[in-house]
Amino acid sequence: MRYAIAMMAVLAVGAATSPAQAADPIKIKFSHVVADATPKGKGALEFKRLVEERLPGKVVVEVYPNSQLFGDAKEMEALLLGDVQFIAPSLSKFAKFTKKLQVFDLPFLFDDINAIDRFQKGKIGQGLLTSMESKGYTGLGYWHNGMKQLSANRLMRVPEDAKGLKFRIQPSDVLEAQFKALNANPQKMAFAEVYQALQTGTVDGQENTWSNIYSQKFHEAQKYITETNHGVIDYMVVTNTKFWKGLPADVRTVLSKSMDEATAYSNKLAEDINQADKKKIMDSGKTQIITLTKDQQAQWRKAMAPVYKQFAPDVGQDLIDAALSSNK
Ligand code: LMR
Repeated sequence: MRYAIAMMAVLAVGAATSPAQAADPIKIKFSHVVADATPKGKGALEFKRLVEERLPGKVVVEVYPNSQLFGDAKEMEALLLGDVQFIAPSLSKFAKFTKKLQVFDLPFLFDDINAIDRFQKGKIGQGLLTSMESKGYTGLGYWHNGMKQLSANRLMRVPEDAKGLKFRIQPSDVLEAQFKALNANPQKMAFAEVYQALQTGTVDGQENTWSNIYSQKFHEAQKYITETNHGVIDYMVVTNTKFWKGLPADVRTVLSKSMDEATAYSNKLAEDINQADKKKIMDSGKTQIITLTKDQQAQWRKAMAPVYKQFAPDVGQDLIDAALSSNK
């Protein structure tokens, strides 16, 4: 009897202590600045689904969309400080850490998203993923959004129509030079502030993808959107190098595989989401979409061309040529 009581006590202590002794799950915060219904938003949720299905109780992924946790200005720093583990900034937001990624901002460089995909999957594109490791950032993949369109409250068919207008841009010197080449006034601004800036007239226009324009309701504050397809918004998913290398190898393998699958999933959806959002914008009747003739398109390309010469020394002509050769 005494033995049985002693055994029960041992079991009770065991039951009380075992949950506390079980290792706490690794928590991954994934922060981004766009809506859940965009290519990036869906990619982040797919990554969470895959990881939590494969590593139940071991890894928890919390996704924070819409600049809820960190906006553009803070997320890079927060990643280095360990306040967030995954972010996916647009490729226009890395210039502080490498000049090479500026290649993606050159106007009219890629004919379409397929050319971008070929470049990113090639040796040079893959090499850029690890080009910021000395700064503490490890790239895990490229996620597509799509081609940029130009919106404003003034109807724009030719480059001269943009003259004198204030445009919100991402924090990129290439984009700044692009708008200066049009004799317009670029203003660097965080994504979360754009809608209000358009509404209050702090800026007259902006450049973005159909999915960002639709999900942020920019079209409700802009009379015209010119379908220029003059550039791209794509992302690099990055993590903190130290955090990544410090993960147990088996966990890192599953995260890596899940990231590859979430990348393929998001990239497959991106073009369809953008085209569907373009249609929703059209159907809303809140803005007018301007389609360019071939000749007008060529005029925009010519007006923005001086940017190449300006940034070739920083980016590297070899990199520009490699990107150009991904067009078919
Ligand atoms: C922007 O700032 O316009 C975009 O980079 C936002 C995003 O993440 O797509």
